[in-house]
Amino acid sequence: MQYGFFDDVRREYVITNPRTPWPWINYLGNEDFFSLISNTAGGYSFYKDAKFRRLTRYRYNNVPMDSGGRYFYIREGGSVWSPGWKPCKTDLEYYECRHGMGYTRITGLKNNLEAELLFFVPLQTRAEVQKVTLRNTSRETKKLQLFSFVEWCLWNAATDMENFQRNFSTGEVEVEGSVIYHKTEYRERRNHYAYYSVNQPVQGFDTDRESFFGLYNGFDDPQTVREGKPRNTVAHGWSPIASHYLEVELEPGNSRELIFLLGYEENEPEEKWESKGIINKSKARETISRFNSVEKVDNAFAALRAYWDQLLGNFRVKTEEEKLDRMVNIWNQYQCMITFCFSRSASYFESGIGRGMGFRDSNQDLIGFVHQIPERARERIIDIASTQFPDGSCYHQYQPLTKKGNNEIGGGFNDDPLWLILGTTAYIKETGDFGILDAAVPFDNEPGSEVPLFDHLTVSFDHVINNRGPHGLPLIGRADWNDCLNLNCFSDDPNESFQTTENRSEGSKAESLMIAGLFVVCGRDYAELCRRLGKIEEARRVLTHVDRMVEAIKQHGWDGEWFLRAYDYFGNKIGSKENEEGQIFIESNGWCSMAGIGLEEGMTEKALNAVKERLDCEHGIVLNNPAYSQYYIEYGEISSYPPGYKENAGIFCHNNPWIIIGETVLGRGDRAWEYFRKICPSYSEAISDLHKVEPYVYAQMIAGKDAFRPGEAKNSWLTGTAAWNFYTISQYILGIRPSYDGLIIDPCIPPEWEHYRVTRRFRGSTYHITVKNPERRMKGVKAITLNGEPITDNVVPLLPAGSECEVEVTL
Ligand code: BGC
Repeated sequence: MQYGFFDDVRREYVITNPRTPWPWINYLGNEDFFSLISNTAGGYSFYKDAKFRRLTRYRYNNVPMDSGGRYFYIREGGSVWSPGWKPCKTDLEYYECRHGMGYTRITGLKNNLEAELLFFVPLQTRAEVQKVTLRNTSRETKKLQLFSFVEWCLWNAATDMENFQRNFSTGEVEVEGSVIYHKTEYRERRNHYAYYSVNQPVQGFDTDRESFFGLYNGFDDPQTVREGKPRNTVAHGWSPIASHYLEVELEPGNSRELIFLLGYEENEPEEKWESKGIINKSKARETISRFNSVEKVDNAFAALRAYWDQLLGNFRVKTEEEKLDRMVNIWNQYQCMITFCFSRSASYFESGIGRGMGFRDSNQDLIGFVHQIPERARERIIDIASTQFPDGSCYHQYQPLTKKGNNEIGGGFNDDPLWLILGTTAYIKETGDFGILDAAVPFDNEPGSEVPLFDHLTVSFDHVINNRGPHGLPLIGRADWNDCLNLNCFSDDPNESFQTTENRSEGSKAESLMIAGLFVVCGRDYAELCRRLGKIEEARRVLTHVDRMVEAIKQHGWDGEWFLRAYDYFGNKIGSKENEEGQIFIESNGWCSMAGIGLEEGMTEKALNAVKERLDCEHGIVLNNPAYSQYYIEYGEISSYPPGYKENAGIFCHNNPWIIIGETVLGRGDRAWEYFRKICPSYSEAISDLHKVEPYVYAQMIAGKDAFRPGEAKNSWLTGTAAWNFYTISQYILGIRPSYDGLIIDPCIPPEWEHYRVTRRFRGSTYHITVKNPERRMKGVKAITLNGEPITDNVVPLLPAGSECEVEVTL
């Protein structure tokens, strides 16, 4: 069953039934001010950091689901309703939610009154605009009452949920005209405040939650709204909110537009106060004045649309697959921007207080984002590298507000350093900016410890070499890419974190074949970079280590039909036919195939055939098989999940692309495409009931074949799946791959594809590429012409900036 449809022309997903199987959300803002918004206007806002600077309150995992948001209540005659259906849940005559690129438009109709809500965060603005349009479609004059509502979070989203003995006494607000200011803790250590305004005089307001709702009422039934009477309360402690009250009269056929603004500002310590106890509001006033008319708001909205036109114009494809095109041209790229901004911090599955920016996660996010805004990718690379230690190890996560490594999580994940090589080389291939390697980057953010970024890559590479186990394979540390393969944890205490506890590591023999494969891929990339820089000795040294690793993998990492996954603490095999459960895993087979290890000996082909046979199912490729049916203390969290979920034989979408790229190494375009399509969300739209989460973005996990409900997805939006799938489809299936010298053209497609066209902006020029497949091949470029002239290899050279060219490719 479907709950809406794709509107590709407007680049929107249109939800026509508010009762989606799970809240289907969108993100507003892509710089500093962010909001999450569901199809019924639930969600919250924050500034930079969802943990430390949460602006409005939201209740995760509550009853009912999706509690808290920016709500509008319309009272007309005796009836009360919300344009987004929730929270009132009054039946509407019409409902529609359009999630677009950085905006959401929700329309509700009741009793011939149409209410349209447009939410967006304008570019370079620390505020969410809410444009409310009320239209009287009846033949009578309408008199209605409108109440707005948001609830303030007391800034730190973690303590906001627990320290009630303090929180209930600290809340403070100010009300000035139509603007409600939230200033809790501003009197002491904070120099920031939030505000909620409307561009017209109000007839009342409320800022005290209990007075607004009545102590025992829910969001669906505020007492003031039911009675049609605001209380004009000024909150002192308890829970401050912001609600405007407006009386609106509408002639038949007339409409009225109101502009609400939910904003955030910071003041310098010496400029905090206007007068004793009264905050200096000049910055808020300035922002409000930028959006105080419909015209100004419409212009800001048009600028946002133009911004996305430009961004999405960097890569466009036209194939015969409509569902593919809409993902590549619109939603997959959009999701890459979102994962770039948020890493794994705030979604409807990530509470915003658990995780900050991940070292490995953010590096991987770059490979799907770098072609959009390379300057921001550059800044991110430097932020990430600044959290590294001199020996190449690094903090697993850092907080976006402070950009400092997160001590609570620590480090010790031995795959982490390598991803810096992946992210940095992707950036240089896209931009040609070798200069980034000279940027002075500190270790652990310690002033004075700066070295050129290039040295960070060296220590990243060396960290693996310096941490090898008995077979010459990389030691795993706390875990590798699979956070849940905790081979040194040995936890029997449910209060211990699997990831941060390392009960034994001295003398550990736990080695990872996934890191080994990753090392070979990144090592070769790093060596190539060194060669380009004229560092021939270093390139040689690196390749010697890479070759040794390849040998170690062939010798100790091959199980006969596929690559092993790991050796455990005691040196026993994991991911082997000798194991009773968990005989084969996706990650090591993906990375070793991507590296083409044992290609000549037929290892790659065998491994991928085994993956097909044992891991593939209707909804995608599961992580391991057979699933673990019990807890193995020596394996850790992976075996804590019930079979078929998450890292225990779930379809972890993030790593399916590794197999897909492996298939393209073998030239099996049919299989690559089959796998790609299985996890591509637009292809699951018709089974939204089962799939549950948004059909326009990737989810981290789809329940695997051993699960109770195979095909049910969880953890949408913030997943490396977004970047990896964009990388895979654009560079390995459609085969348009940035390199230091130009665009490599190397498609690997299903034989039934006759032709497609890609427009790619690259280093300032535009390449219009037509790929023709008259002989129904899967791989192999037979001929290429550039502006009609044949070129000898499959690298289309760099062109003078600003030029356009036609490239014709025949397979
Ligand atoms: C984490 C990744 C990790 C993956 C697999 C995700 O939740 O963000 O860093 O690689 O899980 O465990």
